[in-house]
Amino acid sequence: MDNILVTGGSGFIGSHTVVELLNAGYGVIVIDNLSNSSKEALDRVEKITGRSVKFYKEDLLDEEALCNIFNKENISSVIHFAGLKAVGESCKIPLAYFDNNITGTINLLKVMEKHNVKSLVFSSSATVYGKPASVPVKEDFPLSVSNPYGRTKLIIEDMARDIYNADKSWDIALLRYFNPIGAHESGEIGENPNGIPNNLLPYVAKVASGELECVNVFGDDYDTPDGTGVRDYIHVSDLAEGHIKALEKLSSNPGLVTYNLGTGKGYSVLEIIHSFEKACGKKIPYNITDRRPGDIDMCYADPGKAKEELGWVAKRDIDKMCEDAWRWQVNNPKGFC
Ligand code: NAD
Ligand code: UFG
Repeated sequence: MDNILVTGGSGFIGSHTVVELLNAGYGVIVIDNLSNSSKEALDRVEKITGRSVKFYKEDLLDEEALCNIFNKENISSVIHFAGLKAVGESCKIPLAYFDNNITGTINLLKVMEKHNVKSLVFSSSATVYGKPASVPVKEDFPLSVSNPYGRTKLIIEDMARDIYNADKSWDIALLRYFNPIGAHESGEIGENPNGIPNNLLPYVAKVASGELECVNVFGDDYDTPDGTGVRDYIHVSDLAEGHIKALEKLSSNPGLVTYNLGTGKGYSVLEIIHSFEKACGKKIPYNITDRRPGDIDMCYADPGKAKEELGWVAKRDIDKMCEDAWRWQVNNPKGFC
């Protein structure tokens, strides 16, 4: 079976995808600098799957190290997760984001080209739709960004399109994720943010566990049914399965393809809090606060293209997402420590 190089493979989405790759019979080689993850995640992946993962603690900014790995390993495709991902932080240190995400990707693409590995799955984001004019969002909607993190995603997408236009022997899947949440159902791997979480779900989980006091709901005056922000939350294991489908697609030499990976359903902040209350069996205290700058009212996917062309649909519902997130939180209150 083919060997897949997974950059950022010990992170949240990467580790769940490595599980699905191993379960599907692929060989997996991970490169991660562990800047936002722990090697323990991969040990847990091995425990879940009963298979082993080859791990290189390397940085994508080190082109020579990348080259050495490509010289040593027989790689057929790359799934590229590695990157910095905090929107707020990216506004404070944009240059670090441009360097890590864009330079890191340029290094990777150069080394791939040099070794004639021209099959790539890239982690893009619904953030490239900016503030969509309508929902559900389709892949051909106009693209725009409003923060440096989003800009790195759009620049990398644009680079991929230019590279493909210049050399049609590349096969590239740009996957635009909506809001990944949940955890592997074993409770062994999950999201492990440093410090106080920025994203809703890990924050809610820490309020449920008593580690944080109260959820701040960022605004209840949006143009949505209950006034709170609506997003398309997707179980990380569904998202991971989407990567297997994308790899299968690349093996048929489709050229450059772009897919939304979402459920097609939107849930409000209050609905998420209530689903989580069901999952953990506790009341979750919350306060309505001001809007968070830069947030949009509503964003959810039209996932029809991925269904039609990849045969992929998200199978796990919001209750399952919250149950799995809660199991992960209870079993690992301090993350991977
Ligand atoms: P994560 O931080 O858990 O995983 C990213 C991994 O990349 C980490 O393990 C980190 O240590 C590693 N990394 C970062 N820079 C590196 C470098 N220069 N060299 C080597 N390794 C490096 O994040 P995640 O949530 O798993 O996200 C994975 C990808 O999906 C990212 O590209 C992210 O932007 C994208 N994405 C995430 C979301 C989300 O809400 N989680 C939404 C849309 C897109
Ligand atoms: N929210 C709160 N309180 C919190 C955190 C979030 O009310 O403590 C609200 C937000 O206002 C928003 C919703 O919960 O309405 C979801 O917020 P998240 O921060 O969890 O997610 P975002 O949709 O803002 O952003 C996520 C990723 C981005 C990515 C974007 C689009 O964090 O990286 O989805 O894919 F770009």
